[in-house]
Amino acid sequence: MEIDSKNSSFFNHKSVMVDQIIYSINNFPQQLDKKFVGIDATLGGGGHSFELLNKFPNLQMIGLDQDPYAIEAASNKLNIFKNRIKIIKTNFSDFKPEDKVSFVIADLGFNSNQIETAERGFSFQKDGPIDMRMNPTQKTKAEDLIKNLTENELADLIYKYGEEKLSRKIARKIKNDIQIKGSYSGTKELAYAIGGCFPPKQRYRKIHPATRTFQALRIAVNKEIEVLDKLLNNASSWLVPSGIISIISFHSIEDRKVKNYFKNDERFFNLTKKPIVPSEDEVKINKRSRSAKLRIAQLK
Ligand SMILES: C[S@@+](CC[C@H](N)C(=O)[O-])C[C@H]1O[C@@H](n2cnc3c(N)ncnc32)[C@H](O)[C@@H]1O
Repeated sequence: MEIDSKNSSFFNHKSVMVDQIIYSINNFPQQLDKKFVGIDATLGGGGHSFELLNKFPNLQMIGLDQDPYAIEAASNKLNIFKNRIKIIKTNFSDFKPEDKVSFVIADLGFNSNQIETAERGFSFQKDGPIDMRMNPTQKTKAEDLIKNLTENELADLIYKYGEEKLSRKIARKIKNDIQIKGSYSGTKELAYAIGGCFPPKQRYRKIHPATRTFQALRIAVNKEIEVLDKLLNNASSWLVPSGIISIISFHSIEDRKVKNYFKNDERFFNLTKKPIVPSEDEVKINKRSRSAKLRIAQLK
């Protein structure tokens, strides 16, 4: 895959709820005048880490991402703080810090570069291979799922991770098409086939009819729910007592998981009974932020 990472506009991800993330760190009862360490589990373009390093002069960060293009973009952006950040290309579910840290932030899901780069195959607006891997060295792509799963398995996946009511009809259509022609030419043809499963009135609404199915495939390809479970389970062993975990999620399946975990795990105080959401002003300038929900918990 050829992606022009030399082009400075190649990575233009706008970080969401930066002030609220800073707030979550500023208000925890540790001494910010001494050296402290935090983990950014989803570094992306380095936006949140940049703002945190800028705000807290005594902060050292560890930044993780599984996407090499994000790692490259973040390394460039954070070069001025290079003595205060260690950047590691890894899935956060495989990571274990050497020492305990004061906070962990995770801004889940995909970055803007992934969705805007047709070759990554996340988009139904830009035609690309049916891929959707955040880590391009991972074996399974979305195309493998639609080819190898049975119709029933595919329908269950679309329902579970996309909460799509037409999951059975969509799975039947996809499997029929694959049987006839082997595969689709790309994401646009797949999206068109999914759109055709909807009654005409529903095909041209604000939200594209393929949105939920694409979300489901992306979640499955990247095992997003399994790795979130691992992150939530591991976080207590990463944090010092009173350490903070702040998680931004973008869909109800993730948010429910974070909410229940923070509510029921006795090792944590749940600091957000209701999630923190972006301001109207932020949503106006960054449409992607509209579904963001931030939840914060503190290790006892
Ligand atoms: C929403 S973006 C983060 C943007 C970042 N906070 C910023 O301000 O620039 C999410 C990032 O997390 C990465 N990611 C998602 N799941 C991951 C995982 N399990 N392990 C490591 N990185 C992951 C994605 O590759 C993507 O770059």
